[in-house]
Amino acid sequence: MSVHFTRRRLLLGAGAAAAAVVTTRRGLGSPASELSVSVDLAREAGTIRPELHGHFAEHLGTCIYGGLWVGKHSSVPNVNGYRKAAIEYLKGLIPVLRWPGGCFADDYHWRDGIGPVEKRPKRVNIHWGMYTEDDSFGTHEFIGLCRAIGAEPYLAGNLGSGSPEELRDWMEYCNYPKGSSLSDERAANGSPEPFKVKYWGVGNENWGCGGSMTGDEYATVYRRFANYLKSFGGTNPFLIACGPNGNNREWTEKFWGNMRGGRRPDGFAMHFYSNGRGNTATHFTVEDMQQQFASFPRIEEAILEQRALLDQLAPPRGRGPGQPVGLLLDEWGVWDRMDPEEEKRYGRLFQQITIRSAVAAALGLNVIHRQAGKLVMTNIAQIVNVLHALLLTDGDQCVRTTTYWVYEMTKPHLTQNSLAVEAQNISVSASRKDKDLTLTLVNPTHDQTYNVACSLNGGSAAGATARILHDSDLNAANTFAAPNRILPQALPVKAQGGSVRVDLPPLSIATVLVKLA
Ligand code: AHR
Repeated sequence: MSVHFTRRRLLLGAGAAAAAVVTTRRGLGSPASELSVSVDLAREAGTIRPELHGHFAEHLGTCIYGGLWVGKHSSVPNVNGYRKAAIEYLKGLIPVLRWPGGCFADDYHWRDGIGPVEKRPKRVNIHWGMYTEDDSFGTHEFIGLCRAIGAEPYLAGNLGSGSPEELRDWMEYCNYPKGSSLSDERAANGSPEPFKVKYWGVGNENWGCGGSMTGDEYATVYRRFANYLKSFGGTNPFLIACGPNGNNREWTEKFWGNMRGGRRPDGFAMHFYSNGRGNTATHFTVEDMQQQFASFPRIEEAILEQRALLDQLAPPRGRGPGQPVGLLLDEWGVWDRMDPEEEKRYGRLFQQITIRSAVAAALGLNVIHRQAGKLVMTNIAQIVNVLHALLLTDGDQCVRTTTYWVYEMTKPHLTQNSLAVEAQNISVSASRKDKDLTLTLVNPTHDQTYNVACSLNGGSAAGATARILHDSDLNAANTFAAPNRILPQALPVKAQGGSVRVDLPPLSIATVLVKLA
């Protein structure tokens, strides 16, 4: 049985620690408690696919324009128009990148973003402020970005205001090698090699900004679109249908109830944000934080329930036992109350990323790691300057947020096999490949230090190293004035026989890399 903190346990906060034995005092008001965690080295729960650490970039605020893309003639240091610092920081960290939305995707017409830049139309961004964009960042620029940082591209197609023909043509333009008018047009625009885009979204939030449909209405439209989305040039598209808002069972049931025949989706994309609208990001109270953290057990529950629904309702793909339809957590992350002044200065949905946001990211990633066998992809929203961002930019400044460091620290889990864990009061995930064991331990409390003893069931440690991200002020952040306030630090770790021991201060994330004997 995989046990982790429950919502009740988390909300109990320091009170829950009464169950643990208080052994020492470390400074005023921070009693340290012994805490036991166990990892079962023999019980694997699926591979942590690289796509489980995916990201999302939308034409929203300054995510693209001014953030990732500054243009070739900018005074901001750039490489062919891409912000140089962003490329350097993101390289190797982003397995998959979803673009161009979000809500924006269902009003995006891909032809606007190809060909000579000076001829591209200016369009109004109807979802995110009714301002105009010059379309200088289009398909080629997106693929170039993905190549520069080593990400797999994921194109979100327009089902809401577009047509099956338009989406089908985008796929041919991207993937057909040569000899068709569309593939030749791609070559004339500078890319003779096909882009070989595998991941395709067929609409976004079609229960809301993507057309306000019911699940069964969307299924009818989805079937019509999917019929024309083929394996152009041998790149078999992985089609992703819009899934529920949170754990909305009705959407899922209605969609699959009306998915008779036709090209069924390969993936079904749920969106689940962790709202924290009490106070702005740097003015959170302990209560705001606990309320936001309580969403993560609900996300884990939603993953289990939606996966069970898919197993029950969605016929497997292919012949014989077939492949189950994959579940995606396509958009997730913290969505705090915005500060209007900051939004005015830095763009829509700009929010500061604090140590609390980093703990939230790590709580989310621990859920994702533990449920690796039930998911095929997850994308945190969004990569730069919007919502739960990895990077924040202002002019030529580019700050790596605490959440950036969480992704950097937890990367060793990727391609390893998720393991069953038991823990209370803190959140834990574990994964293993051969002799390499990775643990991520998160202390979400604001006032409790834990001396954690982790027992390795079925193996023993030959050695370990560990790093920690921590600040005792829940509103502390890496800001433009202090970009390196919170950085990963080496953490003392004792690894001997079947036990690994580390001390976790409040509001901390630790990743332990263990060499098994
Ligand atoms: O990420 C911001 C918005 O949140 C996206 O555009 C939309 O899909 C969701 O509602």
